[in-house]
Amino acid sequence: METLVKAEGGRNVQVLSDLEAISHEAASLFINASRDSIAARKQFVVAISGGSTPRRLYTLLSSSPCRDQVDWQKVHFFWADERCVRKEDEASNFKMVFDRLLSKVPIPNQNIHRIKGEEEPEKAARDYEADIKEFFGGSGLPVFDLVLLGMGEDGHTASLFPGSKSLEETARLAIPVYLKKPYGNRITLTLPVLNNAAQILFLVAGISKATVLSEIVSDGEKKGKFPAGRIRPLQGKVIWLIDQAAAGGV
Ligand code: 6PG
Repeated sequence: METLVKAEGGRNVQVLSDLEAISHEAASLFINASRDSIAARKQFVVAISGGSTPRRLYTLLSSSPCRDQVDWQKVHFFWADERCVRKEDEASNFKMVFDRLLSKVPIPNQNIHRIKGEEEPEKAARDYEADIKEFFGGSGLPVFDLVLLGMGEDGHTASLFPGSKSLEETARLAIPVYLKKPYGNRITLTLPVLNNAAQILFLVAGISKATVLSEIVSDGEKKGKFPAGRIRPLQGKVIWLIDQAAAGGV
């Protein structure tokens, strides 16, 4: 079951039955995007997210038949955000993706560009920014081929939270975000970087996301109070894959 809710202003919203259906659709989009990018530029550069929603996607991508449909040697992984913990910590976004995907596919180590969550946050953000600049070269904003994002119940995305001054950052590519528990300190890509991506894919599931999602999708949040609603790529497109529970209010 698939319903196209809205496709305007570069925002495309698709309602699927459940998380399993979202994950399969996302895997298919990932595979197709990788083929297009590799055909055009000989590489596929993604920035991915943590959280619980994309776990099934990463497992699908590492299993047959999906894993055989991606040229992993040419894929580069960056992270949209990271928690300030060691890479062995269960809360680490790197660990989540490494355990489910990166450790199971033939991807070269040098293609894995992790954020060093174990470092002091300001240093980790500066080092990550330097890594991104070195990889992309040039002086402009990087263009990720695909950014995978989730959305929290409060409308946060990556580690950009409602009301945070990090939302106004325009000079830096990556910044530290200092948060109390349960979130804790994090490093995040900034809005200008996310909005410069060629394609952005949101995965959102569960009834707890329904209220905020309906405001974002119906465009009722004109003042941009929800960071996820401020993801509007300048040139690229944004696709929201949401399940029926999350679509409750849409
Ligand atoms: C993280 C994220 C974060 C996440 C949302 C949604 O590190 O936690 O990158 O932005 O995507 O909080 O998380 P769920 O998928 O668990 O709902």
